[in-house]
Amino acid sequence: MICLGFEGTAHTVGVGIATSEGEILANEKEVYQPDEGGIHPREAAQSHSDNVKEVLDKAVNKANIEPEDIDLISFSQGPGLGSCLRTAATSARALAVWLEVPIIGVNHCISHIEIGRFTENVNDPVTLYVSGGNTQVIAYDSSRYRIFGETLDVAIGNCLDTFARRVGIPHPGGPRLEELAKKSENLIDLPYSVKGMDLSFSGLLTEALRKYEKGASLEDLAYSIQENTFAALVEVTERAVAHTKKDEVMLVGGVAANQRLRQMLDLMSEEHDADFYVPPMEFCADNGAMIAWNGLLAYGAGKRQEIGETRIRQRWRTDEVRVPWRSD
Ligand code: ATP
Ligand code: FE2
Repeated sequence: MICLGFEGTAHTVGVGIATSEGEILANEKEVYQPDEGGIHPREAAQSHSDNVKEVLDKAVNKANIEPEDIDLISFSQGPGLGSCLRTAATSARALAVWLEVPIIGVNHCISHIEIGRFTENVNDPVTLYVSGGNTQVIAYDSSRYRIFGETLDVAIGNCLDTFARRVGIPHPGGPRLEELAKKSENLIDLPYSVKGMDLSFSGLLTEALRKYEKGASLEDLAYSIQENTFAALVEVTERAVAHTKKDEVMLVGGVAANQRLRQMLDLMSEEHDADFYVPPMEFCADNGAMIAWNGLLAYGAGKRQEIGETRIRQRWRTDEVRVPWRSD
């Protein structure tokens, strides 16, 4: 069975093609780059609708299939920015109706986990999902992916990007801050952001910006922001590992590109005798292949949807989804 999946929760419009035998035939994408400032939802959606046909053509050509070979369409139904989700959902519905094949909306956060389990051959990890729009520590228990901890305000990627933007570094700022951080070892005091099992980054962001105005160097601030926020992320992940006694840890999302975060999680995992995994960045950042793969899993487990049930779900939480393709 061949599934074509549309991703469109935020910056990325992606089309992935996967088979139920476990082959990724294509994974094409186009990433919206704001001219200035952060992501503008309407402009991102406009960019997605400008690009989706080309991305779709590229994916179908790369997979070397004919449209009639497609058996199933999936799409990112949520969570995400309404205008972007709507663009991907509309493309998915149009194609499903035209091809007369079933359509399935999948949860974007869960797709991140499932593609990682698939590419890294991981069984039952505690997952740290960190991106521009999401920050969650997730693990499977009793038919659902449970959120063990999450940000109470901004996502870690958003925190890094906003700081960067405010000091004149263009979007996305995460990678530039990582480079700057390598040039310092001077830890500046910033508010530590663990609250119970949850995280909060907005106070730290304000304080880092205040210290910048007062003359702290960008290198020192980049280093201190990373050390501080990553320690908080690792602390919550560690507690989830200790509680669940799972012996696999996985890092996914765009911020997974960060080598320092990987190093800290790797160390923590080692201390708990857990194996540590990071999927290749092609599958870590937002992509269509993870949506296609999740569509196949859901369809294989018997999930069916009418077109009327494909309305987008902007605030669809990870733990609202039953995952019948996994057994307890
Ligand atoms: P989502 O819809 O899942 O929230 P997204 O639109 O934010 O995703 P991703 O590609 O998953 O897209 O993640 C992008 C984020 O990753 C940006 O915030 C970017 O700054 C961050 N990022 C990328 N590389 C690095 C890095 N080396 N260090 C830190 N952050 C990084
Ligand atoms: Fe994502």
